[in-house]
Amino acid sequence: MGRAGRVNGDRLITSRRQIEGAGKEGGVLIAFEGIDGSGKSTQAARLAEALRADGSEVVLTKEPTDGPWGKKLRQSFVTARMTAKDELDCFLSDRREHVEQLIRPALNRGATVIVDRYYWSTVVYQGMRGLDPAEVLKLNEAFAPRPDVTFLVDVDPHVALERISGRAGGRDLLENLEVQLKVREAFTALARTQPGFILIDGALPEGAMQAQVRSRLAAWRTGAVTSPQS
Ligand code: TYD
Repeated sequence: MGRAGRVNGDRLITSRRQIEGAGKEGGVLIAFEGIDGSGKSTQAARLAEALRADGSEVVLTKEPTDGPWGKKLRQSFVTARMTAKDELDCFLSDRREHVEQLIRPALNRGATVIVDRYYWSTVVYQGMRGLDPAEVLKLNEAFAPRPDVTFLVDVDPHVALERISGRAGGRDLLENLEVQLKVREAFTALARTQPGFILIDGALPEGAMQAQVRSRLAAWRTGAVTSPQS
């Protein structure tokens, strides 16, 4: 049997964890990653809507969260940036709370959890600040469940920046071209080396991108995807 149950066709996502008995959780964890302005948040929201319409319980969430740690982080992006180590600790605390309070309980009751940014972002962004990416990954994997699928919405930073400049609130300290180019590179390197990544063409119009997300997810469910795929 592949990664997915076929009993109910498109309607049912059966967890790889459930099949392989790799963990306690019965749900499916889907992460969306990509550079700022890639369109991942819109895609995550649209996928949540589509899966709900199919009858699944879906929890759509994001990181950094809106909790105290997340607020502290967002504030630091627009005022004084924390040291890399403090920032990492803050992201880990935020994620620990998120996993304990929302993600794990939802997975345990069999829900599909869609998270807009997850620990791959920590590996990439805090790695870019000089921390060892392998160590950052290890720290995360000690407590945070590994996503079954990570959609990497991959797009040229020029396109992403154009999108961001039209966004209310404008750009923040993190959002400049040079950084985005490096972020893109780091994400695609992760996608090449870590299991579970599926590449999405972030240059596509919104609807076409969503169609790609859904068809790739359907392929993953039947075990047809060998990741990364674009
Ligand atoms: P967010 O507010 O989600 O920005 P966006 O909606 O544009 O993606 O995230 C703010 C920034 O936080 C984003 O530039 C990436 C960064 N980030 C990290 O540096 N490490 C992390 O672990 C996460 C989750 C985000």
